[in-house]
Amino acid sequence: MNILDKLKWRYAVKKFDSERKLSDEKLNILKEAFNLTATSYGLQPVKLLIIENKQLKEELVTHSWNQRQVADASHLLVFCIHRNVDALYIKTYFERVKHVRNTPDEILDPFRNYLIDDFGSKDQQEVDDWAIKQAYLVLGNLLTVCAAEQIDSCPMEGFVSEKYDELLDLPKKNLKSVLVMPVGYRAADDMFADFKKVRKELSEAIEEII
Ligand SMILES: Cc1cc2nc3c(=O)[nH]c(=O)nc-3n(C[C@H](O)[C@H](O)[C@H](O)COP(=O)(O)O)c2cc1C
Repeated sequence: MNILDKLKWRYAVKKFDSERKLSDEKLNILKEAFNLTATSYGLQPVKLLIIENKQLKEELVTHSWNQRQVADASHLLVFCIHRNVDALYIKTYFERVKHVRNTPDEILDPFRNYLIDDFGSKDQQEVDDWAIKQAYLVLGNLLTVCAAEQIDSCPMEGFVSEKYDELLDLPKKNLKSVLVMPVGYRAADDMFADFKKVRKELSEAIEEII
């Protein structure tokens, strides 16, 4: 299959095969792809929780508009934003740059100071909004990687973030859940698998300016 065929094969799965598990190899591809996703300034303000625990997934269904995908999928990915993108967080990022690339402080200082000032001038909502955009980017990247790897998935906004946060004890870790994505394998009788894709015509969706 070429990449377009793989993207056509992908759909938002409504019914997963609860007996089929992702291999460690596939799971590792998702972990690496998550971490390789581009983020604004490279600050990676998104944390990925990977939940396999059956009982916990069942509990989360109630807080996911009763969407069974959350429990039946092999693993549930929960995308969380870091709510502590402060001077310390930014300094830690630059320490990593220094360690990996051996970049001297005098080269890093102007950008580091700029980011510390810039983020310091934003309120929590502004920083959260910025981080949430990064979470959507990560989700989009993983959707495509799943398709390329023949892993089924369902991108989901349909859940109660506050309930997830409570159940997963996220505020204590300065995290907030913003998106979820069950991953695994489609059930043989998921009727949505055969539905035709509904999309605008390319000529309507895209305008080329020559
Ligand atoms: C950000 C986002 C949130 C979504 N939330 C849900 C959801 O909560 N439940 C669900 O079944 N599908 C959800 N979807 C799936 C969309 O309905 C689906 O992608 C769209 O109808 C196109 O269909 P396709 O992905 O099967 O091609 C979501 C998709 C996106 C991108």
